Amino acid sequence: MAEHNLAIIGGDGIGPEVIDEGKKVLDYLAANTPGLTFNYTEFPWGSAYYRETGRMMPEDGLDQVSANEAILFGAVGDPDIPDHITLQGLLLPMRRAYDQGVCVRPAYLHPGVTSPLAGKSAGGIDLVIFRENTEGEYAPVGGRLYPGTPHETVMQTNVFTRRGTERIIRAAFEYCVRRNRRMKVTSVTKSNAQAFGMVFWDEVFQVVAADYPQVETESLLVDRVAMDLVRWPEDFDVMVASNLFADIISDIAAVVTGSMGLAPSANINPEREYPSMFEPVHGAAFDITGKGIANPLATISAVAMMLDHLGEAESSRKVDAAVVRSLQERKVMTPDLGGTATTSQVGDEVVRLLWEG
Ligand code: NAI
Ligand code: MG
Repeated sequence: MAEHNLAIIGGDGIGPEVIDEGKKVLDYLAANTPGLTFNYTEFPWGSAYYRETGRMMPEDGLDQVSANEAILFGAVGDPDIPDHITLQGLLLPMRRAYDQGVCVRPAYLHPGVTSPLAGKSAGGIDLVIFRENTEGEYAPVGGRLYPGTPHETVMQTNVFTRRGTERIIRAAFEYCVRRNRRMKVTSVTKSNAQAFGMVFWDEVFQVVAADYPQVETESLLVDRVAMDLVRWPEDFDVMVASNLFADIISDIAAVVTGSMGLAPSANINPEREYPSMFEPVHGAAFDITGKGIANPLATISAVAMMLDHLGEAESSRKVDAAVVRSLQERKVMTPDLGGTATTSQVGDEVVRLLWEG
């Protein structure tokens, strides 16, 4: 039980709408848990800030945020600003500067939620994706030569370091052993086509796997994984993948477990030298922005992951339980889950369930 300094960045689109509900939950916990305090510093950065200043965050933005223990983040993205500017201007610099190399993305089919896949029952899909989060295909390494000419040449380089690759793979195995469910780690690869980066990835996977003889391992090509996540998602336990592959399979995992609006994500700096960041998997969702119908449960589940990281295990467990009950009871659901409730009503319902205990 303690006082925690949190950076809050709502960002763009539905980001601020869902973050408000995350704060609602934190406010309730602080008001009802003796000794627990959250000090928020809000950073109004993102696309609106970009329109005013030409930057997604101030030049010293990373220094301003780094004094906090954790970051609660909404989303970035704007219909009128290229995605590489919004993403590379705010979210990716934080993941890199704060060395958040381990991204954890659970996907669980909850009671009360219908999977778009036929014949899947609650608890049947229960997997956790470990995403390498600081390098790989997202490294800002490349260049553009002779732009606009017939021999225009573009290079985009993947970066795989032994430190980054081993760190994410080891984190997946450690988690698998602690979780003690199926005791299986799936490595997602493409070493048939990417004969440098992914061959290296496979080698590191084998070396780390040797330290965990009690864990079953498999190495699957990413296209095969895309297929299996749809036909046999129950076969997966812990999955580990590069930055881009994990990004793609996270959306598949989110949608087969009911909705993008349910999937949380933790960007962890394992050494705790810098703040870790907690966010929904989804983006700015232009199609529903401003309508007040975004599902805030992904963000509220990310808040639960944040509380766990902050050492507030009891509060974390309570928030998870309230989310599960709200899904199970199906009384207050946003349209993505077949209901008619607003974002704010779902937040209120989670708070009510917390209060009921
Ligand atoms: P998206 O995740 O924003 O939306 C995909 C689909 O899921 C849409 O139909 C949307 O309405 C639905 N959806 C997402 N979150 C929802 C929620 N909480 N409740 C109900 N439905 C939800 O992905 P999209 O459309 O590819 O990207 C839109 C923008 O967001 C782009 O600019 C993209 O770059 C950005 N983006 C940002 C991310 C981030 O900040 N972490 C992650 C993904 C995309
Ligand atoms: Mg994504």
